[in-house]
Amino acid sequence: MMALRFPKHLPRFFHKFVTPVFGHHQECSQSSADLPPKEKTLELDTVMVTGATRGIGLEFVRQLVGLPKPPRFVFATYRNENALMGLNEIEKCSESTRLILLKLDVTIQSDIIQVAEKVEEVAGILGLNLLVNNAGIARNRMLMDLSPYFMEEHFKTNAVGPVMLLKELLPMLHMGALNKDWNNPGKFPGLNASKAAVLNISAWSGSLQRAMDPPIFEPEIAYRISKAALNTSMRCLSRLLKSHNILMVQMNPGYVKTSLGRRLVPPHEGLNPIEVSESVSSMLRTLAQCEESQHGGFIERNGTPIPY
Ligand SMILES: NC(=O)c1ccc[n+]([C@@H]2O[C@H](COP(=O)([O-])OP(=O)(O)OC[C@H]3O[C@@H](n4cnc5c(N)ncnc54)[C@H](OP(=O)(O)O)[C@@H]3O)[C@@H](O)[C@H]2O)c1
Repeated sequence: MMALRFPKHLPRFFHKFVTPVFGHHQECSQSSADLPPKEKTLELDTVMVTGATRGIGLEFVRQLVGLPKPPRFVFATYRNENALMGLNEIEKCSESTRLILLKLDVTIQSDIIQVAEKVEEVAGILGLNLLVNNAGIARNRMLMDLSPYFMEEHFKTNAVGPVMLLKELLPMLHMGALNKDWNNPGKFPGLNASKAAVLNISAWSGSLQRAMDPPIFEPEIAYRISKAALNTSMRCLSRLLKSHNILMVQMNPGYVKTSLGRRLVPPHEGLNPIEVSESVSSMLRTLAQCEESQHGGFIERNGTPIPY
């Protein structure tokens, strides 16, 4: 297991003290004899959503704050202070959740480090239960117009940024899992999104197996390889995350009515985008049901597997 840099200000004995108990709770089995399977709901203390100023990210924040058991802290990231209107509105109406707005460009390493330090400072031993790697870009260009910079910009934003953020937040996610088990013995067995999870917002167009299926939009090439790179890097990290009791899934949100969605699919394709609220509510519902068998997987928002 990779050595973790434990959050600086947390008592050193916590890790030693909690780990053996955690191991024991994992072995607890649930008695579900003859009961109809109950849909699980998310019970999160702390969440981070990247790219939360608009579109899918903003809706994640809205729906997380509106959960029956809302998180205590939602860290919502933005790049531009002039784009905080939607988040400020949510903050005004949020009664149980403290919404913490953090400046983060996922391509800037110093931003990532500052954000991780802030999460550590605010959440402390609660750790981080859920990281939603949502920030992303998609611009279309035909092969003849591609430049290395254009390709790299997609790669840095959609693939490298999420991995670097995960690297810095791993100790807090690990802490989130430990803390949940410590306070709720046996309630969240195995890998569980309410305990510690990374949700990567991917795209079906990152599937290599589907690369030749219609609809094929040649101008999406930079976007598609960046999402394939995101999927591959996260899949490669899934074993490590499992060893820290952190669930991880790559999810396709569907074709969604956002500015990015509109850019991705030309209107003449006649595809019908779905509402952002529908996309996010089904992703959250699916995430809540995810367990070990979905770990490291690439799935639709309703849970159907997508081939890598
Ligand atoms: N919409 C769809 O149909 C669709 C389909 C498949 C996958 N997705 C995925 O869903 C995710 C969200 O997309 P969306 O449709 O909601 O797009 P969107 O409306 O364009 O929002 C993108 C968000 O990402 C932020 N962002 C962009 N570059 C960033 C960077 N370098 N650092 C930090 N934040 C950055 C943007 O911040 P600013 O406001 O500062 O620009 C914005 O908040 C993306 O990963 C996208 O690939 C969307």
